Amino acid sequence: MRRRLIVGNWKMHKTATEAAVLVRRLSDLVSEPGQVEVVIAPPFTALHAAARALPASPSFALAAQNLHWEDEGPFTGEVSAPMLKDLGCRYVILGHSERRQLFGEDDEGIQRKIRASLRHGLRPILCVGESLSDHKKGRTETVVTGQLRKGLDGISKDEIRLVTIAYEPVWAIGTGQAASPAQAGAVHETLRGALAKSWGAGAGEQVRILYGGSVTAENAGEFLASSRIDGALVGGACLDPQSFATIIAVAQKTAR
Ligand code: PGA
Repeated sequence: MRRRLIVGNWKMHKTATEAAVLVRRLSDLVSEPGQVEVVIAPPFTALHAAARALPASPSFALAAQNLHWEDEGPFTGEVSAPMLKDLGCRYVILGHSERRQLFGEDDEGIQRKIRASLRHGLRPILCVGESLSDHKKGRTETVVTGQLRKGLDGISKDEIRLVTIAYEPVWAIGTGQAASPAQAGAVHETLRGALAKSWGAGAGEQVRILYGGSVTAENAGEFLASSRIDGALVGGACLDPQSFATIIAVAQKTAR
């Protein structure tokens, strides 16, 4: 059975000092998430402070928001997988639409990053999602399965079990306009089918698929009630500890 996963993507918010305060407030509100795995993804500069403030429970984990595919070298401003692993990261978010759209990331680069993360035992959370215009043209399935296959090209059957997929329709991110649970569930089913086709039925069953895009304390229950949705990637709402704690509580209630 796939364990529920709630990920908070802090994006470019919070200094290291602020991060420690936020994590402490969150851990006061969520003592032990039990069957739910809770992951926070602060900016690089706050990872260390967040790691120190995080409760010492395997149910809580740290994620980075990006990495460079090389281990080290002349890449000014970049951060590598071994550096993140050393800071205590368990996960790394890769291929987020903001990275694709604002920083020119393409599927080939994302695939190199996925390989680098797996090489160092970091679990990648691969984000896929269609733009509003693709959505309107009915191209959602083509776009997301294309991103999935290209991003994960060459990944072995053993490695695929370490991968998490986040379906994040670009038009739903930060807009307050979430997809409907039925829409998201249908795309999740398509993604699971694509995973099974390329890596076998076992992989299709084991890989967790999250929904992201305007998830809030108010609507989280609708998504998490669906057996097709294994968790959530939360942006804006994760910066408010009370809202994030409520989303975690909803995930606990609906845990399978
Ligand atoms: P949002 O962001 O929850 O603010 O829409 C989600 C994300 O970008 O991961």
